[in-house]
Amino acid sequence: MQSFCHSSNLKSALAQVRVEGKTVGFVPTMGNLHDAHLALVQLAQTHCDVVVTSIFVNRLQFGLNEDWDKYPRTLQQDSEKLRSIGCDYLFCPEDQEMYPNGMDEQTRVIVPSMSDILCGASRPGHFEGVTTVVTKLFGLVQPDAAVFGTKDYQQLAIITRMVEDLCMPVKIIRGDIVRENDGLAMSSRNTFITAEERPRANQLNRSLNWAAEQIREGKREYSEVEATAKMQIEKAGFKPDYFVVCDGQSLAPAVHDTENVVVLGAMYTQGARLIDNVVV
Ligand code: PAJ
Repeated sequence: MQSFCHSSNLKSALAQVRVEGKTVGFVPTMGNLHDAHLALVQLAQTHCDVVVTSIFVNRLQFGLNEDWDKYPRTLQQDSEKLRSIGCDYLFCPEDQEMYPNGMDEQTRVIVPSMSDILCGASRPGHFEGVTTVVTKLFGLVQPDAAVFGTKDYQQLAIITRMVEDLCMPVKIIRGDIVRENDGLAMSSRNTFITAEERPRANQLNRSLNWAAEQIREGKREYSEVEATAKMQIEKAGFKPDYFVVCDGQSLAPAVHDTENVVVLGAMYTQGARLIDNVVV
């Protein structure tokens, strides 16, 4: 595996790959890689000839009071993991490389209708930071396909919409959610869950599964399902952020005859904010 911190070197390497007629798959990440990230790289490998993974803890998508500075940075271990599964290229730029004119001066990409709801409501500016950095990374890597995990369902829906709206020539591939044995979705932020809370931290997933089951059995009073699920989460000792039955494409609240239903939830533990979802 070849690693690059400078985009000019990455671009030259990829230009050669394209001369050879090979397709390029791309997996953007913020590092602290776990099995779910590696599964995305492996999925990319099944679609493309070479795979680029990026590691960049993008300050632009973190709010002022959020955990940018304490976000776990484990580049050495990440690099070894990627090498062990045969990833071809690692791109790990510094802030200066990605934002040479400073973040305030950076041109932004916004997907209006979907970015201020759900996670966007509790994290103002977050998705603007995501869509902006993903656009820049797409511009640098120019991938044929890019893989995103369904765990960040809203992120995936927004990026899918952005690619469509801006006619970006990138195929978006969805990776399934990878979970711990008890159902907790893998996340770099799980390291912030306290030992005392950890046995109960799968409550979000349990409530999502419960809600999905209710809907599969024919229940259409979605607000009742949402309220009961929030109570379950509170009873387990956590603070629900949102728990909503949505249209899987627009993320608008589901109505009686919505066909493509997804249930999305977020909750606060003492040390972390966790998100998860279940497609019905
Ligand atoms: P990060 O949180 O590192 O996630 C990188 C990719 O891994 C995302 O596509 C995310 O959805 C996926 N992922 C994380 N945990 C997963 C799980 N348990 N199952 C399946 N997929 C999972 O998401 C970001 O970084 C950033 O916002 C980024 C897109 C890189 C832009 O900065």
